[in-house]
Amino acid sequence: MLLDLLSKRRSIRQFTAAPLGSEHIDHLKEIAIRVPTSRGLNPWQFNFVTQSDLISKLAQAKPHAAAFLNQCPLAVVISADTCRSDVWIEDSSIAAICLQLAATELDLASCWVQIRLRPHDETTTASDYVSSLLNLDEHHQVVAIIGIGHPAEEKQPHLKQDLPWNHIVDFT
Ligand SMILES: Cc1cc2nc3c(=O)[nH]c(=O)nc-3n(C[C@H](O)[C@H](O)[C@H](O)COP(=O)(O)O)c2cc1C
Repeated sequence: MLLDLLSKRRSIRQFTAAPLGSEHIDHLKEIAIRVPTSRGLNPWQFNFVTQSDLISKLAQAKPHAAAFLNQCPLAVVISADTCRSDVWIEDSSIAAICLQLAATELDLASCWVQIRLRPHDETTTASDYVSSLLNLDEHHQVVAIIGIGHPAEEKQPHLKQDLPWNHIVDFT
């Protein structure tokens, strides 16, 4: 059930050193490109990174809340061609959450690293920093990096009674 999967998914930032099997990586690649996009334009690109030297550079993309990537055996960098579609952010975000749910289904753990609109330092955006690391095409903006691996911490699902029910408006 999707509800079970959504409940099980938590942001995990501690990972074991175990690498991901190629069958898991292939599965996640297929998930990424099966998601729907507006008008079927597929403006995104998914860089699947397992090289540890590259992952440690990705972990420096922004000063805060990205360092945990150092522990991840897989980082999926989601970027999009901003000239190809006007809803590249939506398209990329749909792919990102689907990747997180697919990882959960495989008993893997994940966490989103926000890159879009975040600074790398005073002069460079995090998106430009990652783009130049990966040699991304012109017009590509990096939306997020999803760190994925085997969990080294456990988090319980949020309790049903603690969900933000006040954000549901009922006209039924
Ligand atoms: C759009 C978005 C951006 C996020 N950016 C980061 C981030 O840069 N670094 C990080 O460690 N967690 C990031 N997170 C994870 C959130 O902090 C996390 O989902 C939230 O605190 C709820 O916790 P949970 O995922 O365990 O339910 C992000 C999540 C989303 C949906």
